[in-house]
Amino acid sequence: MRAAARALRGARRVLVATGAGMSRESGIPTFRDALTGLWARYDPEELATEAAFRRNPARVFGWYAWRRRLVRAAEPHPGYHALVALERLVPELVIVTQNVDGLHRRVGSRRVLELHGSLERFSCVDARHPFPADAVPEPAADAACEPPRCPRCGSAVRPDVVWFGEMLPERVTAEAWDLAAACQAMLVVGTSGLVQPAAQLPYIARDTGATVIEVNPDPTEVSAAAHIVCSGPAGAMLPALVAALTEGEST
Ligand code: APR
Repeated sequence: MRAAARALRGARRVLVATGAGMSRESGIPTFRDALTGLWARYDPEELATEAAFRRNPARVFGWYAWRRRLVRAAEPHPGYHALVALERLVPELVIVTQNVDGLHRRVGSRRVLELHGSLERFSCVDARHPFPADAVPEPAADAACEPPRCPRCGSAVRPDVVWFGEMLPERVTAEAWDLAAACQAMLVVGTSGLVQPAAQLPYIARDTGATVIEVNPDPTEVSAAAHIVCSGPAGAMLPALVAALTEGEST
């Protein structure tokens, strides 16, 4: 923990990469865990591809409405607040997340790149015209829900998340890659490092001379790239890391 605090203290530019494990302690199920109850009989390909949406827009839209309700009811854990505090302690900090739950923004982190999009943004399926979130219907129960139509082109409105087989959003991806190459320290939290292309970021940071710190209770594909591994859950490790950093500053 002290070595990690030292690396962060010496860094002007810090990149934090977060994955599904970051939200585990807030009770947000990972993609596969979310296939429970009414949704347990479906494959991800039946719920998270454009083809699935075109085949059965109400089913897919209803599943995303259900996930939105779970996320809205979730409380960001202390690790989220620790990253807000960390943003104030280092000159330049950016969070790049694979999560679509929006918790980093909700808790007040200011620079957040959402590589896989957001459950709370919408666009139409044909032209990706943006659609206002407050005009989206929210069904009360776990049920299929007919999506609204785009007022410009008439195609169905979909969640602005990256589905299987889709490209990552170009601008945020380019920015994340540049930041990984330019940071002096990278903190990788709660990601298995199995999902490409986000899994490349720690390797880019390491190759360009950054110190890579991993926070995860289990060894992962990222561990080989990490100089320092803080083995434990984000909700405990991130506040401890910030405490070590501030203690070091006052002595
Ligand atoms: N704190 C930190 N890490 C944790 C915690 C915790 N409390 N609990 C679990 N983890 C770790 C696990 O050990 C695992 O390494 O979080 C990681 C979660 O890995 P994945 O579920 O593979 O999540 P991620 O790497 O974000 O990839 C999932 O795949 O389905 C797509 O787009 C979807 O973004 C999602 C991605």
